[in-house]
This record gives sequence, structure tokens and C-alpha cells, in this order.
Amino acid sequence: MPQQNSSLNKAKEIKNDEFYTLMEDIENEISKYDLAQFKGKIVYCNCDDPTWSNFFKFFTKWGNRLRVKEVHFTNYANGKRTFNRQLTLFDLLDLKESADDDKNGTAHHWVYTPATNKIVKKELKGDGDFRSAECVELLKKSDIVVTNPPFSLFREYVAQLMRHNLKFLIIGDENNISYKEFFPLIKNNEVWLGYTKVKKFKQPDGDYKIFGNKCWYTNLDVAYRHKPLILHAQDISQYKKYDNYDAIEVSQIKLIPDNYFEPMGVPMSILEKFCPEQFEILGLTSGRDEFDARPTKKYINPIQINPDGNKISGSKANTRATLLLDEVPNDIYYVADNADKPMRIFMPVL
Ligand SMILES: C[S@@+](CC[C@H](N)C(=O)[O-])C[C@H]1O[C@@H](n2cnc3c(N)ncnc32)[C@H](O)[C@@H]1O
Repeated sequence: MPQQNSSLNKAKEIKNDEFYTLMEDIENEISKYDLAQFKGKIVYCNCDDPTWSNFFKFFTKWGNRLRVKEVHFTNYANGKRTFNRQLTLFDLLDLKESADDDKNGTAHHWVYTPATNKIVKKELKGDGDFRSAECVELLKKSDIVVTNPPFSLFREYVAQLMRHNLKFLIIGDENNISYKEFFPLIKNNEVWLGYTKVKKFKQPDGDYKIFGNKCWYTNLDVAYRHKPLILHAQDISQYKKYDNYDAIEVSQIKLIPDNYFEPMGVPMSILEKFCPEQFEILGLTSGRDEFDARPTKKYINPIQINPDGNKISGSKANTRATLLLDEVPNDIYYVADNADKPMRIFMPVL
């Protein structure tokens, strides 16, 4: 049946984690940090097979300059990957033999020491899963984890980093921000966004895949967190209050008033320049208790009305902030038994 097929395809798609980071994206991000944060540190890239990982290429190229003490890499030998060696790292580093071993699906641990420019390779007992006891042991001995982990295991991956109190710089999906396991970390200033977005990844067959929603997450220090935004006084009477949250709607970051000190909803892109010395995050307007921004009302029989007049369930009105509209708009809007007017929905950070 078509529906079953499409669910199966989706499941396959979700499990595809083979998207390799480009060298320019790693260089572009890491070069923006105060590199003193890497000095004397042990770095661990725990989802990184040197055959294709540019994190390996990056740290073997720049490790000396970053003055890191050691860099550890482990690969995941799940036996399912199509092996298509596009990179010439092994030829460059005289590790060709290693690549041939890994072709057979063996997991390894490589240690690069910049001071001696030496790479030592050891076989792992298990399959190199980042959750395996031997990889967790390596994690515990490390200071900073830097990688692009499997997208499908992101939340578990971050939970492990947090459990072991590590510094990290990793790539993930922007949608993670609104997940119940992850948002509290953002809210509590335990994790924040890096500097750049990552748009393009290489796939095992050599083709590129473009994504619009991948970014870096880190708990390393970033400069923007110490630079308050320059704001201006605004006419607050021009700002509308949400119908279901006790806050005003600020539609653009540049319109955040500097003469208002009560809760306001601002676009999520605030997180790209969020300075905790200037603002406090109160929550996310998603209708969930654990996000700490609680709606002041629950809509009864909410309905979403599409531009063609089609009506579907409007349950999103109960998981977003809503603004009452004076007129029926041309695009999607919501109505409910206990809403006086048509509504538009938003998911701002409060
Ligand atoms: C998004 S890719 C990125 C690979 C590499 N870090 C890079 O940036 O090019 C994630 C990698 O994690 C590997 N992986 C999947 N599950 C894993 C696990 N449980 N433990 C360690 N690595 C895993 C995948 O095989 C894949 O190569």
C-alpha cells in the first residue's frame, strides 16, 4: 500500500547518517573561536573514520597550530556502509593499510600527537559505537569532543556529553532546539549555537546533500555571548500581546525595545546572537510544561483554515503562541470556540 511504502522510505531516510562534513565548514567554524580554548587539550572525534572524515584531516592539519595535546578518533564499524574512498588522506598520511583494514568493517582508535606528528592506530574490541564502554572510557579521558554525530542519535549523543561534563563542538539539526530533552540545555545556558550554519555534506557515493537546517552546537565560549545587542526605545503601544501567553510579540530582533522589561516573544534566530548578560530565556511557546512558558488558555475545538478554505485540526494553536487578527488573512489562520477573532500562530522564544 502506498502509505506503508512511504512510511518505510521515511524510516530508511531517518536512519541514513552518512553525511560527511566538508573541510571548509570545519575550518570556517573553528577559526572563529578563541583558540586558547584548545591549548593543551585532549580532543576526541568519536564518529570519525579517517578514511573520509574531514575532522581527521582538520586536526592532523591544524592540531599543532591549535596546540592541542592529542586528538583521538574512533570509527563506527556497522558493516552496512558502502565503502567508497574519495579522500586521499591515507595516501597522504601513509595509512593506506589502515584503510584496507577498515574496509572489512573493523573499528579502530587512532591517536594523533601534534608535537611528534605521529599517528598510532589500535584495534577496538567492539564496533566503535560512541556508547560502548571502550569509547566512553576514551570520552572520559578527553576534554573536548568535536564532530558531526549521527543525526538520528543526536539527543542520546548530547545526553552522554552532558553526563560526562565535556566541552564540545558538534553539528546538529536546528529542530533540536524545540525538543523537550534539548531546549532546557539552551534555556539554562548549558549549550548554545556556534557561529555558522552547515549547508552541504558529502555522501558515500560522492554526491552532495544540501540541508537548510544544520548548525553547530557548543559549550565552548563564543564572542557573541558577551556582546549585548544595541537596542532602541520603541513605542510599546504598537506591540500586540499574545492571546495565550502573557507576553508581547516582537516580530524582528531589531525591534526588541530597550524600554520594556517584561516577557516578550522574539524570533528563534535570537539564539544566534543571544547574550545571557542582556536577556534571560523564560521558555519556548510550545504549550509544554517542561518548557516553562505556560499558555494562559487552552483553545477549544481549534481549527486550521488553509488558503483554499480547507479546514483541518488546529491543534497547533495549543502548542504555539497566538495573536488575534482584526481581519481574516489570505494565508493560513486558526479559529477556536473560545477565541474572539481569527488567529495566527508563532513559536517565539520568550
Ligand atoms: C553525520 S555522519 C558524520 C561523519 C563524520 N563525523 C563527518 O563529519 O564527516 C555520522 C557518522 O556517525 C556514524 N555513526 C552512526 N551511528 C554511530 C554510533 N552509534 N556510534 C558512532 N558512530 C556512529 C555514522 O556511520 C556516520 O559515519
